[in-house]
Amino acid sequence: MPLPDAPRINPSILAADFVNMQAELARIASADFVHVDVMDNHFVPNLTFGPQMVERIQATSPVPLDVHLMISDPDRWAPGYAELGAASVTFHLEAAADAIALARRLRGIGSRAGVAVKPGTDVDGLFEHLHEFDQILVMTVEPGFGGQGFMPETMPKLRRLADESRRRGADVWLQVDGGIGADTIAQAAEAGADTFVAGSAVFGASDIDEAIRGLRQTAAAHRH
Ligand code: DX5
Ligand code: ZN
Repeated sequence: MPLPDAPRINPSILAADFVNMQAELARIASADFVHVDVMDNHFVPNLTFGPQMVERIQATSPVPLDVHLMISDPDRWAPGYAELGAASVTFHLEAAADAIALARRLRGIGSRAGVAVKPGTDVDGLFEHLHEFDQILVMTVEPGFGGQGFMPETMPKLRRLADESRRRGADVWLQVDGGIGADTIAQAAEAGADTFVAGSAVFGASDIDEAIRGLRQTAAAHRH
């Protein structure tokens, strides 16, 4: 299956109605991926679901899965999400014992390998390892909850990643997650993001297809 071109819009089902997941997934068929937030109430102070639920989402979703693991000990748990067929699995740099070894395992299973950083986490140590990852997720809120305000102070870090990635010819997607909507997506695109997670801005819209199309158009008009 060919991968969707940038800019990619990945609605976060954290903002969906959890007891109507099948219908909610059907509503985002025009998106590029479905962003699936796994939280363990340990790495973040919130709890969502684990592999059993993700396996059902994988079986039901009209678009491929972009799994975001906000969990401790991803070295132990992340490969299971790749094994159930998720197209992309992203774990947190702050939580991983050996991020490069884990990314290699995820790729070996057949998934794209992503690494995420919280707003306060530095990315410079990743520059020489960009080729080990398929996606870098720059969190634009503190992970744990949907509906928070976008943190513009994360943009210089994203810009440095985009510039380094271009300079090194790395084939890595740059994703932003948190507070992304019609009013913030342009600045994230200008700073170098090509893959955009949006929860409330998509599921809170009266016309979901229109919201996805609008976000994609704005991002495309403000490419780095
Ligand atoms: C937050 C999650 C996000 C969240 C984004 O920890 O990782 O994916 O769902 O929600 P919005 O777009 O509402 O900020
Ligand atoms: Zn997320």
